[in-house]
Amino acid sequence: MTNGEGYCVIKLDTLLLEFEDFLQNHQLNASSYHPHYEVALWQMVKNGGKRFRPRLFLGVLLALNPSLLEQQEQRLDMFYPALAIEVLHTYSLIHDDLPAMDNASLRRCNPTLHVCYDDALAILAGDGLNTYAFYLLSQSPLPDSVKIALIAELSYNGGVHGMVLGQALDCHFESQPLTLAELQFLHQKKTGALIAASLKMGAIVACENANFCENLYQIGLKLGLFFQIHDDMIDALQTSEEAGKTTHNDVSKNSYVNLLGLEESQNHLEQIKQQILDMLQEFSQQKYAPLKTFFDDIFLTYF
Ligand code: IPE
Ligand code: IPE
Ligand code: MG
Ligand code: MG
Ligand code: MG
Repeated sequence: MTNGEGYCVIKLDTLLLEFEDFLQNHQLNASSYHPHYEVALWQMVKNGGKRFRPRLFLGVLLALNPSLLEQQEQRLDMFYPALAIEVLHTYSLIHDDLPAMDNASLRRCNPTLHVCYDDALAILAGDGLNTYAFYLLSQSPLPDSVKIALIAELSYNGGVHGMVLGQALDCHFESQPLTLAELQFLHQKKTGALIAASLKMGAIVACENANFCENLYQIGLKLGLFFQIHDDMIDALQTSEEAGKTTHNDVSKNSYVNLLGLEESQNHLEQIKQQILDMLQEFSQQKYAPLKTFFDDIFLTYF
């Protein structure tokens, strides 16, 4: 299959299957005489999940600069940043489930790490994956300037200005109702920032200019809000078995469902989706067409 410029183009689903192979073959090696450390580090990464953020990164890259994914060796190069994002996300899940945070016992269809081992090892596995994400970025065979830009995005959005801030707000304001504007801020920090960064990192590797990257980032914040509202609804509507994670766990949280109810949450989802589709139209026709196809696919696949 070729695109308009004659490049051989791999399908996004096939690319994600290749990425999954890459992930499963890049088990973190950290052997020692600790009986569980090495297994615990990688267990939650390999247990799977939707791989939503790697799909965002690779999908943007494929939409904007498919020539970078033409050869198999090139694709392997691009899997390092995709894995770094997934590894950082997995750290956030391991910590999110801890008794001191959401106290959840099921994640990715398996017992959570602190249930399998103990709190100390779960905390340390999260810490280890957090820094390992940046080691992976450092090892990717991309130009140094690109690597530095990716490190900046992932650390800013996955760290104190993004996900960590959102999680701090989420935990601090349990049982204290926030306003809708405050809840949107919280959701965009805890979930939106990393989702927006995943899209932007794809645009950075595709060599898009700063203005384009920023516009895509803003769309990503909306997509992140969409994702978290949908996640709040999953907590209310699905059993733990269906979701593969502990549900009905948001009782004292500021969630969309608790603040607005299910019907109004659904209305917000539809409004935000429309806003995303409108924002995409601001791009030039040349960029709009592949990005629209990509976003349509995202909505179809995940929601
Ligand atoms: C769960 O993320 C945490 C949120 C940000 C809502 P995902 O729903 O992407 O979890 P996995 O990666 O599929 O396990
Ligand atoms: C967590 O949000 C977001 C993260 C940064 C991990 P939730 O607490 O709603 O995620 P789930 O529902 O446990 O996956
Ligand atoms: Mg949480
Ligand atoms: Mg949680
Ligand atoms: Mg949730």
